[in-house]
Amino acid sequence: MKKVRKAVLPVAGLGTRFLPATKAIPKEMLTVVDKPLIQYAVEECAASGIEHVIFVTGRHKSAIEDHFDLAPELESFLEQKGKSEQARLVREISNGLRFSYTRQSEALGLGHAVLCAADLVGEEPFAVLLPDVIAESRVPATRELAEIYEATGLGVIHVEHVPRERVHLYGIIDAEVEKKSRWGDKVLRVRNLVEKPSAEKAPSNWAVTGRYLLPPEIFDDLRTARPGAIGEIQLTDGLCRLAKKGKLLACVYDGKIYDAGDKLGFLEATVQLGLKDPKLGENFRKYLRGLKL
Ligand code: G1P
Repeated sequence: MKKVRKAVLPVAGLGTRFLPATKAIPKEMLTVVDKPLIQYAVEECAASGIEHVIFVTGRHKSAIEDHFDLAPELESFLEQKGKSEQARLVREISNGLRFSYTRQSEALGLGHAVLCAADLVGEEPFAVLLPDVIAESRVPATRELAEIYEATGLGVIHVEHVPRERVHLYGIIDAEVEKKSRWGDKVLRVRNLVEKPSAEKAPSNWAVTGRYLLPPEIFDDLRTARPGAIGEIQLTDGLCRLAKKGKLLACVYDGKIYDAGDKLGFLEATVQLGLKDPKLGENFRKYLRGLKL
């Protein structure tokens, strides 16, 4: 089975939920504790053995390119001033990864965004990471999915259990435990998926977290998918086709998901990760305890 080397990060969205902050700054560049949101996903890629990160960008996203580019002038300025720790932080942003950028010029959905990366991905398996989601676990989320892909050759997505009143916010799977798998009941065989169903229509409480490991044949499935009611091609449409062919697994994620895709989730991620920060955590906890709520 081909080793997983590439990851696609869709970052073309307008970030309207965060206006006015995102009028001139990409949502992905908003800071969670001490680094931009997008850096969490890129660090997960590096920790998962990914070598090549492909950003699907849009207009007004050049700050993302600048962030992951080399900055020799800044580094030597910091070194000259004796700020070698800061110089190291700047140097390590790119984590030894290779970066490519391609554009999604029209907002035609997540499936369409992934399809925009088809030429750069080529005929190999690839990960998709939704950068709104920070996934925190002992084994990096994408590495866990890559290991399952490399053992089975099947597409695989992370899912987590959500309460009924939240199923309308996610892709929800219809699945059964994969028999005789070496992962026990942690790995399911997906029969079908529904994008953001109502509580009554949801086939389960297993929600797609935003981490995917896909075979290149998904591109054909996306190319022939017809745009849905709002004129968009959803990634879920391509995943459904893979599932119908018996080529899609789901893995129950046992880490912690922070969904920073809206203001409340973003604040929650900031507080939770701030509390865990080795330098800030203790004082931040004292500050929060002292609040009269
Ligand atoms: C997207 C996907 C959805 C998934 C979710 C995870 O939706 O379409 O299937 O469950 O991410 O965050 P979005 O949140 O971008 O609307």
